[in-house]
Amino acid sequence: MGFVGKLKKLFSPAGPRLVASALRYQYWHRKNQWIYLKHGLALENECVGDFMPHDIYWAHRSIYDFACDHLPSRSGLRVLDLGCGVGYGAALLAQDDRVASVTALDLDEACIRYAQRHFGDITGLRFAPCAAEDFPSQHAGPYDFIFSSNVFEHLDDAGALLRALPKHLAADGRFFFAVPPIFDEAERARQNAVEFHRSNHLIAEWQEHLQRAFGSPGTFYAHRYTPRQPDRPYDATSAPIPVTDLGSYDFSFTASGLDASQSGDTLTAIWVLGLP
Ligand SMILES: C[S@@+](CC[C@H](N)C(=O)[O-])C[C@H]1O[C@@H](n2cnc3c(N)ncnc32)[C@H](O)[C@@H]1O
Repeated sequence: MGFVGKLKKLFSPAGPRLVASALRYQYWHRKNQWIYLKHGLALENECVGDFMPHDIYWAHRSIYDFACDHLPSRSGLRVLDLGCGVGYGAALLAQDDRVASVTALDLDEACIRYAQRHFGDITGLRFAPCAAEDFPSQHAGPYDFIFSSNVFEHLDDAGALLRALPKHLAADGRFFFAVPPIFDEAERARQNAVEFHRSNHLIAEWQEHLQRAFGSPGTFYAHRYTPRQPDRPYDATSAPIPVTDLGSYDFSFTASGLDASQSGDTLTAIWVLGLP
C-alpha cells in the first residue's frame, strides 16, 4: 500500500482502531525486548518461548503438540528438530514415550544456551548450535521424524535443504514441515518486509519443492485459530496473556486441498511427508 493509501486508511472510520493497535504493538515489542535480554537472548531473533506466553507463542506451541500426533507409532524414535529456538518444543517431543532421542539444532547460540539451561536434563534430548543447512554434515541421519516449524522461510536456499532431507530419513520416517502461509503476492510483499524472512515462497511453490524432493506432495494441513471462546480475537501484538487464557486446543489443523488454504485465516501452512 502506498503512502496515499495509508493516509486514507488512517482517516477512515477504522483509523483510531489501527492507531491503537500499532501503539499497542510498539509498546509490547519494546517491553518484550527487555524480557529477551533478561533471559540472555539476542534481540535479532524472533523466537518465542514459554518465558513469554502470548498468542503467538501458543500458535507455535500448538504446532509441536500437533506434531506429536504424527510421530510414527513405534518406540525408539530418533527425532531431529531443525531450528528449535529456545527448545520448549524439542522438550515436548523428547517427553513422548515413543521417542528415544531428539537432536535439537538452532543457528542462534543464545537460544541454544537458554534451551540447555532449561531443558538440558531431559533424557535423550541434545541441543547443539548448528545451521539447518549444515545438519547433513554435522548431525547426519537417519532420523525417524524430522520436524521444522517456522524456520525454512529464514533460509537463503530452502529448496536445496529440502532436497537434501530425504537421505536423512529412515525408510518409514516422516518429515513435518511448517512455514508461513503465503497465498498471494500481497502477502509475499508483507513477508519480504520481515527482516528475518528470505525464502518467501507461495504455498504452491513450497508444494513444488516438496514434490521434487520427496516425489509426492504429502498431506497439507491448514493451521487456524479456532478459539473455544469465539469472541476472543487472535492478538498478534505479542502482548502477554494469563497462562490459562489460551492453549493448543484453541488452534485447529484441517487436512485440506491447497484451495482451502486460500481463505486468508490460515496461520501456518503444514505438510507431513514420508519417503515414496
Ligand atoms: C520463529 S523461530 C521458531 C523456533 C521454533 N521452531 C518454534 O516454533 O518455536 C525461528 C528459529 O529459526 C532459527 N533459525 C533461523 N535461521 C536458521 C538456520 N539457518 N539454521 C538453524 N536455525 C535457524 C532462529 O534462530 C529461530 O530460533
